Amino acid sequence: MSTLTDLPVIDFDAPDYRADPMRTLQRLAARYPLGRSKRGIEVFDYDLCRHTILHRAFGTGHPRLMDVLGLPESPALSYKRQSISFHNRGEERRRLRVPLTTLMGPEGSERFRTDIREVVRATLDDLPTDRPVDLIAELCDRIPSRVYCYWVGAPMEDAEFISRASHSVQQVHTRNPETAAEVVRSFADLRDFVDVQIERQRAALSDNLLSDLIRARDAGHLNDQDLRNWVVKLAEANTDNSSHQIAIAVIELASRPEIWAELGRDPALVPKALNEVMRYHPRSLSTSRETLEDVTLDGVDIPKGTAVFPNIGAAHWNPAYFPEPERFDIHRPEKPAHLNFGGGIFSCIGRFAVTIELEEVLGQMARRYPDLRVTRSGFSHSPMFTSVTDLEVVLGG
Ligand code: HEM
Repeated sequence: MSTLTDLPVIDFDAPDYRADPMRTLQRLAARYPLGRSKRGIEVFDYDLCRHTILHRAFGTGHPRLMDVLGLPESPALSYKRQSISFHNRGEERRRLRVPLTTLMGPEGSERFRTDIREVVRATLDDLPTDRPVDLIAELCDRIPSRVYCYWVGAPMEDAEFISRASHSVQQVHTRNPETAAEVVRSFADLRDFVDVQIERQRAALSDNLLSDLIRARDAGHLNDQDLRNWVVKLAEANTDNSSHQIAIAVIELASRPEIWAELGRDPALVPKALNEVMRYHPRSLSTSRETLEDVTLDGVDIPKGTAVFPNIGAAHWNPAYFPEPERFDIHRPEKPAHLNFGGGIFSCIGRFAVTIELEEVLGQMARRYPDLRVTRSGFSHSPMFTSVTDLEVVLGG
């Protein structure tokens, strides 16, 4: 039996993590199931990560995150308190999630595919093929924010606002109090935008996602406040994560010419390739939980109220579960599954929709641009996320 203080310490600001985070996590995961960091307990082992993500003794880490950030009393904090993120297991969480998991489950999301395909095609059509393109601004940010506009029936010109607002509000995960003022402002802007969209859709219901959410409200499954909060939440969670994951996928796949050519020839391989991207270089390097009671993990006693971080990056590079984790292999078996979208009652609501976005972007690009060259790229890795800081390509062809 060991104690919390015996656990190895990971310093996310140390040069080894900054220079090569995945190999740093791989080294730790190969030796230790658990560790600790400035933010709390880190879970490195894959099975223990799944346990922590799924088990009822672990609840949402969001309320603590708002404390760390020092979010002042404001409409932003009220929204956070009311939204799904603050709710632990129980009837209220289930009530809030069910309408969304129905509309955005595998089948519900599949009905977006034709329109997502069209958004991707039109966005690619606008890009020059003979000179360098800033792919983050011109594609990665545009696709999810345009898809959001299509979901809520907003004009495509609003996509830029959505993408900016999503990047701003996601700064809560930096745990940096200096971002609090901007987060408060951006949530207020988003809420005003959402109110306009709800009013407009209500006047002329159609077959888009927002109309379906309004119908769920009219059927009594959601109230007005839930409806507004969900439409804000979809903007909050959508663009930032999706944009970075699209950029990661372009870098990892297009920088490997044989794989890129294979995907161009055989689109059926795209879902497998994306699974490997999300295993090898996930956008989510961790998710967060807080212990709801005293628990014992791998023989270590952890008191109630402790912040615990299933370290998805470490779990994905653990050789006991993913042999030769540093090898990028699109033909890996499907199991064990990657944890990029968390799991269980807290799992990502948008995971099926964003997987379709990724499939459409990467499938169309590999077919249209067999000679695509990545001319500049850069990553940064926080304890929570992989971010793409720079991505310039020449599409060619
Ligand atoms: C590649 C892009 C994305 C990644 C990597 C991602 C990842 C995640 C992760 C790790 C969680 C926490 C899960 C857990 O702790 O078990 C989460 C939650 C969530 N995600 Fe995503 N996400 C992405 C895109 C989206 C999109 C496109 C949407 C909506 C359109 C979305 C909506 C949500 C919501 C609403 C939650 C909170 C669920 C809850 O608390 O019940 N995400 N996401």
